[in-house]
Amino acid sequence: MCGIVGYVGPQPALDVVVNGLARLEYRGYDSAGVAVQGGGALHTEKRAGKLANLRQALENHPVEGDGAGIGHTRWATHGAPNDVNAHPHVDNDHRLAVVHNGIIENFAALREELEEAGCKFVSETDTEVAAHLLSTELKRRGDRDLAAAMRAVCRRLEGAFTLVATSVEDPGLVVAARRNSPLVVGRGEGENFLASDVAAFIAHTREAVELGQDQVVELRADSVAVTDYDGAPVDVNEYHVDWDASAAEKDGYEYFMLKEIVEQPRAVADTLLGRVTADGRLALDEMRLTPQQLRTVEKIVIIACGTSYHAGLIAKYAIEHWCRIPCEVEVASEFRYRDPILDQQTLVIAISQSGESMDTLMAVRYAREQRARVLAICNVNGSTIPRESDGVLYTHAGPEVGVAATKTFLTQLAACYLVGLYLAQVRRMKFDDEIDAVIGQLATMPDQVERVLETVEPVRELARSLADARTVLFLGRHVGYPVALEGALKLKELAYMHAEAFAAGELKHGPIALIEEGLPVVVVVPSPKGRGVLHDKIVSNIQEVRARGARTIVIAEEGDESVRPYSDTLIEIPAVPTLLQPIVSTIPMQVFACELALAKGNDVDQPRNLAKSVTVE
Ligand code: F6R
Repeated sequence: MCGIVGYVGPQPALDVVVNGLARLEYRGYDSAGVAVQGGGALHTEKRAGKLANLRQALENHPVEGDGAGIGHTRWATHGAPNDVNAHPHVDNDHRLAVVHNGIIENFAALREELEEAGCKFVSETDTEVAAHLLSTELKRRGDRDLAAAMRAVCRRLEGAFTLVATSVEDPGLVVAARRNSPLVVGRGEGENFLASDVAAFIAHTREAVELGQDQVVELRADSVAVTDYDGAPVDVNEYHVDWDASAAEKDGYEYFMLKEIVEQPRAVADTLLGRVTADGRLALDEMRLTPQQLRTVEKIVIIACGTSYHAGLIAKYAIEHWCRIPCEVEVASEFRYRDPILDQQTLVIAISQSGESMDTLMAVRYAREQRARVLAICNVNGSTIPRESDGVLYTHAGPEVGVAATKTFLTQLAACYLVGLYLAQVRRMKFDDEIDAVIGQLATMPDQVERVLETVEPVRELARSLADARTVLFLGRHVGYPVALEGALKLKELAYMHAEAFAAGELKHGPIALIEEGLPVVVVVPSPKGRGVLHDKIVSNIQEVRARGARTIVIAEEGDESVRPYSDTLIEIPAVPTLLQPIVSTIPMQVFACELALAKGNDVDQPRNLAKSVTVE
């Protein structure tokens, strides 16, 4: 939520900042702005709408800047997405600019105090409070030491924030602070960068520095100094980013989402890479939880949001089946408010591709306070959730820029299967050859995903033909139920259509009343070879909806002729083991939603009202 960039160095700051924002636009795209130092003054420009509007404004009124620069792309929380509320926000002397990601919870009281002291506010944002506070603190220090002023401001703020500021009093300096919101430093040669995500500076450097909770960083062209909020220097963790700028390009595709769907075979392969030792044992190096700790686990609770929650629902089937450990799955935003029963024998698995979802982060903190052990499954290296967890399994899917999760979902599934098998291994719940057999099946999944991608053209045609549908229903059983939920979510977020998913057995308990002539109903059919009884039941469910006029779109294993007579459209997927089927059955859903949204003229990379990383609760 909101993308932030800061730069100090010899390159034209404006170009570096705007190009950085272009890489972060997926984080928020309802307005954008920049502030650059030049000739002893601060130059700012900001515009409602996408970055293109800001670029146009900068073309019409070029900004001269040779010093430090900061920029922001916004996902609105306080105040409508218009020019005035766009960031940066400046103090009343226009000598200091601030950009912000997060929510300052005590902003109303602070605003009142500042207004009484004579500050004039122009926007409705919480961020403007930070600009005036910072200016007041800087003046108190005789216009020296922006970092000390930032530390003093942060001590007064409540909520979640990343703040980045620059002041004409020190043209070669950008200062930033973070609490509960992402911020990472890029170390260059004679230049340094700050951003919400390494994607913003990956074209310049792959050397990054993680910033911890409640830290302030002073960024100059030749130095990076990090302290806590009291000014004490802190040790930082440096790391090398294992992907390069080309991974964050569209590569000839019109949308990132299209590219990311196609990247899925590679992404799943990368998640599985290097997990098996020479003697055939699973080894999850980043896990940090010892086999002894995992042997004492009595209950697993999976917490996640949105698509990641659907991955968790699927993981439950695999973990309970392979490990015989009771496993609950809960939407992270509900978790800590119901007083869940947790103790040291509870393993909490937090699934979050961004590693920054505030709902999941808060649930992780709560779980750790209750002494549960937390394992994170994340895609973004160095993000907050893995840093605050006891262990981590990175999915290594590479950067996902399209707001709708695609390759990160499939790789979360692969990671969950690895965790399930690893637990079965250390707890001796399965024989080694049984685990080997599943690992072998998992290893074939990248090829199976590739096969699905080669055959999805009819799904595209189908999607285009349904562009005018008002509602689409999705049905599934067993692991097909979370896949149905995921299909409905994709359609809602991309095509802005009403879509709902049901466990197929629930249909007769109410939702069947929704079925009317021509209503598209997508059904995920389990393999007839796996759970035969489930298969037969869902075939009956297909007949029930068809008898009431539904247009049935059936996703079934190739060779499953029993569903053909009841399918208006039959989408065939490769035969794979029942528990692994979501890796292949999800793909037609992704393609369907993407194509239908494109047919409606929607931007599938930046759907309305959404952002990639949801850093507010
Ligand atoms: C949907 C989607 C969201 C995310 C959710 C959690 O396509 O991407 O539903 O899955 O916001 O995000 P992470 O996984 O970053 O915690």
